Amino acid sequence: MNKPSVVFLNKICKQFPLEIGGIQQVLFDITFDIKSGEFVAIMGPSGSGKSTCMNIIGALDTASSGTYELYGKDISTLSPDDLATIRNEYIGFVFQNFNLLPKRNILDNVMLPLMYRGISINDRNKRAHEMLSLVGLEKFESYLPTQLSGGMKQRVAIARALSGNPKLILADEPTGSLDSKMGNEILKFFKKLNTDMGITIIIITHEFEIAQYANRIIHIYDGHVTYDGPIPKNEQSLLKSEQRYKK
Ligand SMILES: Nc1ncnc2c1ncn2[C@@H]1O[C@H](COP(=O)(O)OP(=O)(O)O)[C@@H](O)[C@H]1O
Ligand SMILES: [Mg+2]
Repeated sequence: MNKPSVVFLNKICKQFPLEIGGIQQVLFDITFDIKSGEFVAIMGPSGSGKSTCMNIIGALDTASSGTYELYGKDISTLSPDDLATIRNEYIGFVFQNFNLLPKRNILDNVMLPLMYRGISINDRNKRAHEMLSLVGLEKFESYLPTQLSGGMKQRVAIARALSGNPKLILADEPTGSLDSKMGNEILKFFKKLNTDMGITIIIITHEFEIAQYANRIIHIYDGHVTYDGPIPKNEQSLLKSEQRYKK
């Protein structure tokens, strides 16, 4: 049986108005389909449009044209309020700079996404505690983010992303602020979430080494998908795929 699509982008274009007048087109006819249970890396050099694409997938921004279906529902034309509801229900976010609240302890940080769901404080506490145990930080619940290492902060961010029981995790350069050892641990953790819990994961990266943790690479160059398939043996074929769009 065909697995259902989690994310289906069809000819997505994105343009930004420039202050000096005119527009800059950042995404061109981006089309791909990500199925439930996949672990995908969206890879490309800096400035290629990865974060713009992630913002659309994450319902943080909308496309200029094209359609976007999340779990079979066209969300390209929803209002900002409806998008916020969808985000909260379906998606867990992990960012390069962790985005933790510096003055709240890590238990509070992990409980935060549950605030908007009408869940009792006791249940929120319980869920946050479980998620912090899952990432191995149950002993640090009362610590502030500033007291932790980068790798631990990112584990808190992952616990927060998981607390809402998301179907999809979106991680934008999740190891970009970590040394290679901590970075590898985080990537192995994503891999485990994908294989053990079946969570669909999309990571954004500019590094082939990192993309290799995924099962599929979507390579973006200057706003175009130039490769979409299994992890190639080396980076050469990805770089070669850029040729067609080199100016
Ligand atoms: N809000 C915005 N307004 C104008 N230009 C933007 C905006 N966001 C991104 N861009 C431009 O879009 C291009 C791609 O950016 P981005 O998606 O952040 O790339 P990446 O994440 O691959 O480094 C860049 O040229 C960037 O300057
Ligand atoms: Mg980016």
